[in-house]
Amino acid sequence: MSAEIVSSQTTTSVDRDAFADYARPPSEEGYVRIFDTTLRDGEQAPGCSMNLEEKIQVADTLESLGVDIIEAGFPIASNGDFEAVSEIAKRVKTSQVAGLARATEKDINRAWEALRHAAAPRIHTFISTSPLHMKYKLQMEPDAVFQRIVDSVTMARNLCEDVEWSPEDGTRTEHDFLCRCVEGAIKAGASTINIPDTVGYTVPDEFYALIDMLMNRVPNIDQAVISTHCHNDLGLAVANSLAAVRAGARQVECTINGIGERAGNAAMEEIVMALRTRPDAMPYTTRIETTRITPASRLLSTITSFSVQPNKAIVGANAFAHESGIHQDGMLKNAQTYEIMTPESVGLHRSSLVMGKHSGRHAFKAKLEELGITLNDNQLNDAFVRFKDLADHKKEIFDEDIIALVEDAALRHNDVIKFVSMHVNCGSHGPNVADIALDVEGERKEVSAEGQGPVDATFAAIREIVPHEASLQLYQVHAVTGGTDAQAEVTVRLEEDGKSVNGQGADYDTLVASARAYINALNKLLVKREKTAPEAMSA
Ligand code: KIV
Ligand code: ZN
Repeated sequence: MSAEIVSSQTTTSVDRDAFADYARPPSEEGYVRIFDTTLRDGEQAPGCSMNLEEKIQVADTLESLGVDIIEAGFPIASNGDFEAVSEIAKRVKTSQVAGLARATEKDINRAWEALRHAAAPRIHTFISTSPLHMKYKLQMEPDAVFQRIVDSVTMARNLCEDVEWSPEDGTRTEHDFLCRCVEGAIKAGASTINIPDTVGYTVPDEFYALIDMLMNRVPNIDQAVISTHCHNDLGLAVANSLAAVRAGARQVECTINGIGERAGNAAMEEIVMALRTRPDAMPYTTRIETTRITPASRLLSTITSFSVQPNKAIVGANAFAHESGIHQDGMLKNAQTYEIMTPESVGLHRSSLVMGKHSGRHAFKAKLEELGITLNDNQLNDAFVRFKDLADHKKEIFDEDIIALVEDAALRHNDVIKFVSMHVNCGSHGPNVADIALDVEGERKEVSAEGQGPVDATFAAIREIVPHEASLQLYQVHAVTGGTDAQAEVTVRLEEDGKSVNGQGADYDTLVASARAYINALNKLLVKREKTAPEAMSA
């Protein structure tokens, strides 16, 4: 295949003036570029898939955060991925847009096709270099892998001025071979060398030493930016990334909320806030607008129905909560006693507007702004209707209630299957029966079904209206606030053909929330089916 990688196309002549000077990463020594891969590695995580509209919303958010490079997807993976990369490439003006490609002519051409209209495009190409991956996954000899690296980077470089190269499973690659590959990739034109800890295996000292070794042994290393890409299998992704920065890496690959394959990727908010909070220990900067972190985190969990664990650093619900008396006392005397960064610095505002059934649209919109939630007009309408309904049933409306209902309502207006109404008969005697009405592509459908319990009956009724083979992998209920009138937030995970989707629903009635969650998951499954995947892939 090496000889096949010959390109007749030359570097694009598209006018790149749109990528103004203020959009380029500063060249100063301590500046760390933030390369966000939420839309590529993050989206590969089970249950995290997004449709085009959602990906565009995330890309806009990443751009407004000040991300240097947005990895928008893996264009050859599916038509949906291609379209998303292409749309994002056309609209983003102040971040670079990258697309992933394996070391093949087809992948690289497809990536370039999707990226060519970007103000500042980047092709990110990779191949495995560890003995294990070369032998079992690629079934290639090291010399052939080396030749493929040179050929693929050369081809990518002939199309695009900015090429990043990654040795997959880099942390388990033999050092001599890694140095040879890195040197070859730089010679062929790569200006960023990304070292992935693909399986989350390394530890901070070892990763520091690896980056240090590359800095000292690769003769042309000064012609490239070294990057890190750490997975979190041992919970060390952020620590490993920061160790690499100390050793000289000046790009960090990460995702919002740390989503990604298996245990996820390094969390962007943690990297950025660690650098911002401890400049004394780590004198490095990014240009991330940290006050946009909380809204970005919320948007992503809304879109993916992937909640953030309450004790998650920076964006968890408890990250700035002080429960114990001693801590509260200290906080009242001086917030710095127990707060190393302010909630405001990550865009979390202490509540000022109290909401209830008399609150109007204006107040509702102001509250959303206070919570860092931005909705378009359709989403706002849907959310406001749900808010009024909730306020009729619940005396006190807390911020958590609003976040839950917005998450529930905001992203449903494109759904093909919509919840209309339901009634369930249940209890310790007699059959459990659910009567349910759904709107399927504009047509109202009503059925009645029995089940082992009310949830089983509800899901059976939905299955009768929308027959499918997907299996239920997870059913989880969580009370949004305290009290017996609390809203229930339900998560449902469905799996079909090895692909899983998460659905979420919230309501003051647990069964209605369950039905909404199941329907949400079904809608996502339909989107997933629509995406044709010409080639199954993993990266
Ligand atoms: O984890 C990994 O190795 C990757 C590469 C494609 C960079 O995601
Ligand atoms: Zn990865």
